[in-house]
Formats: sequence, C-alpha cells, structure tokens
Amino acid sequence: MSTEARERLIFALDVDNFEAAEKWVKQLHDKVGLFKVGKQLFTRCGPEVVHMIRGEGGEVFLDLKYHDIPNTVAMAGAEAARMGVKMFNVHALGGPEMMARTVAEIDARYPRGDAGRPLLLAVTILTSSTEETLREVGIDRPVNEMVPRLARLAKDAGMDGVVASPREVGLIRQACGDDFAIVTPGVRPAFASLDDQKRVTTPADAIAAGASYLVVGRPIAAAADPVGATEKILEEIGQALAL
Ligand code: C5P
Repeated sequence: MSTEARERLIFALDVDNFEAAEKWVKQLHDKVGLFKVGKQLFTRCGPEVVHMIRGEGGEVFLDLKYHDIPNTVAMAGAEAARMGVKMFNVHALGGPEMMARTVAEIDARYPRGDAGRPLLLAVTILTSSTEETLREVGIDRPVNEMVPRLARLAKDAGMDGVVASPREVGLIRQACGDDFAIVTPGVRPAFASLDDQKRVTTPADAIAAGASYLVVGRPIAAAADPVGATEKILEEIGQALAL
C-alpha cells in the first residue's frame, strides 16, 4: 500500500458515541491518514475523542467549521491546535480578517514547519447551498463564482486550503494554484451506493482533477468488509497518483 495514498484518505467518523468511534479507529488507523471528527461526535464526546484517536496512532481533521468574530475563531483554532489536530476548518464567509487573524494566532504558536502546526482549511459554499439559498441570504452571485472567489480570499489570508466538492477542484486550482490543499468529500468509488450524495466523483477522478485529500464515510462504514473497501479505495488513489 502506498503511504502517499494512505495520507490522502480521510475517514468521516460519523458516529454518535465514543465506543463506536473507538471501534472504527482501532480497525482503520493504519489504513487511513486522518479521521474526520464533526459537530455531532465532538459535541457528544469533546476533546476526549481527539485524544483517543491520537492515542491509537491516528490523526484528526476537526470539522467544526468555525464562523464567528475574528478573535473568537482565532482562539478556538488555537485550542484545536493545542489538542493536536492535524487539520481544522473555518467558514470563508466569516471574511478575510477572521481568517487572517486565525492564521496569525497559529503562526505565533506554531511557526510554519513546526510539527505541531495544523493545516488551516476554509469552507467556501456548502454543497447543500444552491443559487436560491445564496439569493435568500442576499448573495446575488452564482455558486461557481462564489467558490473560487472565497477560495482565493482564503489563500490570500494565509489559509492552507479549502474543503470543496470534487466538481469544484478545477475552478479552485485555477484561482489558487498548486500550492493549496483541496479536501473533497462526496467521493464514491464505483462499488459503493450514492447514499444522499448527488454530485459525486470517483476517488481516481477526484485525484486526477487535483484533489489533495479525500473524505470518505459511508462507502467504508456501510461496506460488508470495511477494511477491504478501504484497501480498494487506497489502490484506486495509488493508481491515480501514479499517472
Ligand atoms: O458518508 P459520506 O462519504 O457521504 O461522508 C462524507 C462526509 O463529508 C460527511 O461527514 C459529510 O458531512 C461531509 N461533507 C459532505 N459534503 C460536503 C461537506 C462535508 O459530504 N460538502
């Protein structure tokens, strides 16, 4: 198995209790690069779940999508870094000052190159938002204009990358260049069902389009053989990387 493929695979730990999380981490910690802990699991279990994952040898993407006044987001980000997470995210719609202030707080504590420095990601437009959603909140621009615009704001604020649909990877690469991480959920290998994901891409296509990391949940969690499913996905990522 290629280490590079493993480092790029993030398993979405979408469970509601500590024991279930622990079971997945024990099973997959040597197969996936990171475990994504979202609002439900973190609200239920708190930092303990992050410590458990790290104790088992796993790394964490803390997916709490901070959006608040600049100082509050910066200090929350500093606490995320103190927990030892490898990635955390904020909403780019919080604005350039909020993102830059967060970057500055992390810079002060974990200079670039420091092993404890997390990757700072921004969410552009949630894939659940449509043009109508944007209009309802007073944003009169198309999604495919907002996504690269917000990604560029994030980059200019010093953020390390964005979370985005695989379909948006091309636009973001154009706006932000190669030195910018793109984390994509909504990935479905051919063997998996679509679940409620509508705009999906295979792992190989997402990597070929320029994704840096893939978030995969149910194609692994709902598989009869989750470890086997993970290995198939790793193989697909490895092949796409070799091209
Ligand atoms: O099970 P599945 O592979 O669809 O899980 C994908 C994960 O990525 C879930 O945790 C989901 O909340 C998250 N996500 C997503 N689409 C986005 C942003 C996050 O599916 N646009």
